[in-house]
Amino acid sequence: MRIEPWGEGDLPLLETALGDPQMMEHLGGPESIEKIAKRQAGYERPDSGQFKIIDEATGEGVGWVGYWERTWRGEQVYEIGWSVIPPFQGRGIGGLATAQAIAMARAEGKHRFLHAYPSVNNAPSNAICRKFGLHAPRVVRLRVPAGSLHAVQRLAPRPPREFLRARLGL
Ligand SMILES: CC(C)(COP(=O)(O)OP(=O)(O)OC[C@H]1O[C@@H](n2cnc3c(N)ncnc32)[C@H](O)[C@@H]1OP(=O)(O)O)[C@@H](O)C(=O)NCCC(=O)NCCS
Repeated sequence: MRIEPWGEGDLPLLETALGDPQMMEHLGGPESIEKIAKRQAGYERPDSGQFKIIDEATGEGVGWVGYWERTWRGEQVYEIGWSVIPPFQGRGIGGLATAQAIAMARAEGKHRFLHAYPSVNNAPSNAICRKFGLHAPRVVRLRVPAGSLHAVQRLAPRPPREFLRARLGL
């Protein structure tokens, strides 16, 4: 597989990923057509940090991975999310795509930490977090989906000294 920047023609893939009740079981349920279209407009902007996951064998889009900025308890961090459509799940694609997106966030290097907020019941997502090294996991209640429990995974994209050197251009 490979990832490439999210494109103008990728709305159907986003609808498959975010409009499906089963896919969105841990994420507050399927999103509306309007909300997905709004996301599409943001994702297709250059440097959105959103990527299409492509199956190398067929060239087909099989999922999404992306990162963005958020404020978490007064600190600016990256947040990352991922989604692989059902026929392609369980083949290691989600893990590989996540590794590539983390590498990109690390190369960009604007924030020291990258967070993921998988529901505690989302076994594959928690497995992906474990694989990339989680720091200080805590369980929090997020507003979406209302009141459900999510584990905050803090993934440090780079060690502090390396991060500071990059920020200072050394
Ligand atoms: C989460 C998701 C992207 C995983 O994609 P995937 O391509 O199937 O993931 P992978 O095949 O790379 O598997 C990732 C890990 O989960 C494990 N895993 C997969 N399915 C599992 C299951 N049902 N129960 C427990 N572990 C599971 C795999 O063994 C693997 O761990 P390992 O590398 O230590 O063996 C996919 O299930 C999905 O799109 N879900 C719906 C959207 C979603 O919930 N996104 C997450 C937002 S936080």
